[in-house]
Amino acid sequence: MEVKTFGVIGAGQMGNGIAQVAAMSGLNVIMNDIKDEFVERGLANITKLLSKSVDKGKMTGEEKDAVLGRIKTSVDVKDMASADFVVEAATENETLKFAIFKKLDEICEPHVILATNTSSIPIGRIATQTKRPEKVIGMHFMNPVPVMKLVEIIRGLATSEETFKTTWDLSVNFGKTPAEANDYPGFIANRILLPMINEAVFCLYHSVGTPEAIDTVMKLGMNHPMGPLALADLIGLDTCLAIMETLYEGFKDSKYRPCPLLRKYVEAGWLGRKTGRGFYEYK
Ligand code: CAA
Repeated sequence: MEVKTFGVIGAGQMGNGIAQVAAMSGLNVIMNDIKDEFVERGLANITKLLSKSVDKGKMTGEEKDAVLGRIKTSVDVKDMASADFVVEAATENETLKFAIFKKLDEICEPHVILATNTSSIPIGRIATQTKRPEKVIGMHFMNPVPVMKLVEIIRGLATSEETFKTTWDLSVNFGKTPAEANDYPGFIANRILLPMINEAVFCLYHSVGTPEAIDTVMKLGMNHPMGPLALADLIGLDTCLAIMETLYEGFKDSKYRPCPLLRKYVEAGWLGRKTGRGFYEYK
């Protein structure tokens, strides 16, 4: 199936990154969010990153303008009527995602694939909100989207081969390397990553080490590009907690219980980089 116009629901850190890579691959993009200020902030972030690429000589000014020219912003979800493929990258909240999929199913042409960037909500549950479960799939990008090479593609039980192939090919056209996962809690990426982050929070909770010590051990001892607590701050502690809850709920296994300290930070509004404070402070 040919995709020319690519819709993105959500202009936050994942949504604007996805919109950027789609526009860079030559697609026309509609980036949608609920408020003007959200889409403006998303577009400003894309503009900043593209300008940096121009400064570094990785792209010309004309190429930057062409990429930006391919991105339309929208605050009305009905604009998705002209998209050939939509990826939802809204907040990691099941009720919200269900409402978005119900709406998209009403608005979009019947042939349109509805993908979700969910980090852990079951694809099958999202698919049942629509009358096209065979066209619903997980397309899970990693943060920061323009840099990270992986797209985890998750098949729901009802996802068709055609939907899978179109999503796979699209990811390759974005310059990414796709990996296939089946629809179990946390899929592959977060089933492995989040218990490690949660264990790092337990190390802090049990005073095994300071945040700096914990992150230094994992950075220099295991060659991770950043320590697990710094990474949790990048992902967002609310998202980390939501994923741990999904793992715990999905497997009913105590090894996935979220650390009380993680919950305490989230309750205090210390969500990481986006609020200026998480395990570290950001000015
Ligand atoms: N957005 C876009 N580009 C960014 C960026 C951002 N937020 N942060 C860094 N970059 C770019 C820089 O501009 C730089 O680009 P050039 O090579 O063109 O100069 C490049 O990335 C390297 O950046 P830095 O030199 O500043 O720093 P670094 O080498 O430490 O890399 C990093 C930064 C890429 C974030 C690296 O630390 C890293 O890979 N960290 C781990 C990230 C990770 O694990 N992500 C997955 C999170 S899990 C997830 O997303 C799934 C989920 O569902 C929770």
